[in-house]
Amino acid sequence: MKKKYKLGICTSFEPRYKNYIAACEELGVEYEIIDILSHDWLDIVRNSSCDGFLLRPPSDLQERKTVYDERMYYISQHLKRPVYPEFDELYIYENKRNMAAWLDINGFPHAKTRVFLRKDDALEYLSNCEYPVVFKSNIGYGAHGVKIIKSRFAAKCIAHRVFGIFHPKLTIGYFQFPFFGKSQKHYLIVQDLKKIKWEWRIIKIGNSYFGHQKLLKGQFASGSKLVGWVKPPVELLSLVKDVSEKGGFRSLALDVFETVDDKYVINEIQSIFGSYNPSQMYINDVPGRFVFKDGEFVFEEGYFNKHGSYMLRVQHFLEILDSEVKERS
Ligand SMILES: Nc1ncnc2c1ncn2[C@@H]1O[C@H](COP(=O)(O)OP(=O)(O)O)[C@@H](O)[C@H]1O
Ligand SMILES: [Mg+2]
Repeated sequence: MKKKYKLGICTSFEPRYKNYIAACEELGVEYEIIDILSHDWLDIVRNSSCDGFLLRPPSDLQERKTVYDERMYYISQHLKRPVYPEFDELYIYENKRNMAAWLDINGFPHAKTRVFLRKDDALEYLSNCEYPVVFKSNIGYGAHGVKIIKSRFAAKCIAHRVFGIFHPKLTIGYFQFPFFGKSQKHYLIVQDLKKIKWEWRIIKIGNSYFGHQKLLKGQFASGSKLVGWVKPPVELLSLVKDVSEKGGFRSLALDVFETVDDKYVINEIQSIFGSYNPSQMYINDVPGRFVFKDGEFVFEEGYFNKHGSYMLRVQHFLEILDSEVKERS
């Protein structure tokens, strides 16, 4: 590392952002806490001497994520301050509408996803489509916002709640009781159902690659906490590499369905993801990672996902800052 960097660790509603602190301390990197959630976030960032900012956006409530996106947009695109992860990858993070558009534009295999803004359009589609279909809230994790809808009647009931029976201004939205605060309003995401064997979680942070299976519990892999510790297919390591290069994404977990007819279909791209095991990959019980070297994925043994994988993110950010300094000189 050429220069000594000082990183800004942005506050978060999600306490796990403190992993950034633990990682900086372990790596001996100077840091400052930046209260991006404060009303005077703009002055705090503008007056900060940090070389870059580490971000951990909200993943639960839509309004919080939207405001965070807005702040991130100005920090990254207007103030031109380096951030990690990048603005673009956080713009699709916890945003299933944006993610579906991104996958479609960039030609990656995914389940066909329709986002309805007009109630009439949604009702017409739901009158004629085949069932089951999958309804998803824009933000959400652990399958909490996902429903497999088997009948036209159930689909239309939810559509009425989302868009309002009489007028959009009168709707309280759709929510699982008692979570009024998470109510989904004014949009409906309808996705084709895929018949799946399981989901693959394939991770790339910098040049470190990991993979394992997320197994189904009932209809859902997400939130099942059932893991298959097996060697990920090289095809999927290449896929995560392609997605990362296409989007300029720095830190990502790709959730990929393996369908019953042996196809791979991308379900989710998440820049920040749960990572509770010190290794996100075990092959024959050996923990490790793959690194991409001379055109192939090479296995290295070890525990590389310290501090919830945040250590890899901090290391990657330092490499990026270094290479940007080199480019300028
Ligand atoms: N299109 C689909 N076809 C079949 N199963 C799906 C589909 N979309 C989601 N699921 C199931 O629901 C789970 C949660 O969906 P996902 O979109 O990953 O939401 P979350 O953000 O809550 O993880 C997935 O792990 C998968 O098991
Ligand atoms: Mg998921």
